[in-house]
Amino acid sequence: MGQWVKACNLDQVKKGQLLGFSHDDKKILLANQNGKIYATDLICTHAEADLSTGFLSNEGIRCPLHLSVFNLENGVPQNLPAEIPLKIYNVKIEHNEIYVEI
Ligand code: FES
Repeated sequence: MGQWVKACNLDQVKKGQLLGFSHDDKKILLANQNGKIYATDLICTHAEADLSTGFLSNEGIRCPLHLSVFNLENGVPQNLPAEIPLKIYNVKIEHNEIYVEI
C-alpha cells in the first residue's frame, strides 16, 4: 500500500484537461478523460517528453513528441514508438480534492 497524497482541487483538472504535479521525486500527470480522473507518470516512457503538454482523447494520452498514445486504464502504449507502459496510480476524490496513491 502506498501513501495517499493530495494532488490538487478537483476544479483544477476540468474535463479534457491535463495537469502535472510533483511529490518528492515523483512527477505525476493528472488527466480528466470525460469526467474521470486518471493519474500516470508525467514523463513518457519513450524519450522523456512531458505528457502534460500532450493531447487527451477518448483513446488516451498522446505524447507530444512522437505521438504514441497511452491507455489511461492500464498505461499500455497503443502505437509505436513507445513500447513500455506508463505507470498508473490509484486516484480517489474526497471533498472535491484529488488524492493519488504513491
Ligand atoms: S517521447 Fe513520447 S513517444 Fe517519444
